[in-house]
Amino acid sequence: MAHRLKWLSHSGWQITAANGSVYLIDPWLSQNPVAPLKIEDLPQAAYVLLTHDHGDHAGDAVAVTKHTGATLVGQPETVGRYNKAGAEKVLGMNIGGSVDLGGVIVTMVDAYHSSETGTPAGYVLSFDDGKVLYHAGDTGLHCNMATWGELFTIDVALLPIGGHYTMDGRQAAKALRMLKPKKVLPMHYKTFPVLAATADDFLREAAREAPQTEVVVIEAGQDIEF
Ligand code: NI
Repeated sequence: MAHRLKWLSHSGWQITAANGSVYLIDPWLSQNPVAPLKIEDLPQAAYVLLTHDHGDHAGDAVAVTKHTGATLVGQPETVGRYNKAGAEKVLGMNIGGSVDLGGVIVTMVDAYHSSETGTPAGYVLSFDDGKVLYHAGDTGLHCNMATWGELFTIDVALLPIGGHYTMDGRQAAKALRMLKPKKVLPMHYKTFPVLAATADDFLREAAREAPQTEVVVIEAGQDIEF
């Protein structure tokens, strides 16, 4: 059985592990102009992972955990904020830490950005069949990615490419040289007018910088197996 990865647009993803457990990362739908579905359309989920505390990532944290029954995972300051706001089940962790969440080992890694609470982060999810998924969060290019690329054999990387608030396509392509993923899916673009409207720059630069990595461009609402 494979795992399924569905793009909820922007930085939001729904991961259905082979055992049926659902993990959501940065599910932001209610104010999202390109959301492919509504919060009410989300399935029951085990965990919601927050990369950082910005409205376009964490703004629906309370509503999504209420609807899905999920435990909210993030830095203590961030989950503490949303716990006070109504998210009942929360689990705090921090950069470098790994937690077994229902058979998936979730490691919080660093990102370079800002955050209303805590500090920005990304996640590495290690599944029980050996598959590894990396969600970069919102970040600029940083050389610690080389360390994560050495520590983990990454099957699927999810990288922001929109520019303005994060890496653009050229920088994200450079990140591939450090992360060395088998596949990469671009995210955090074409949501707002200030972000890149297409993945064309990333596709061109990635082909030059990291020809061994397969770039997979999907539309919001679509999913892939890995
Ligand atoms: Ni942000």
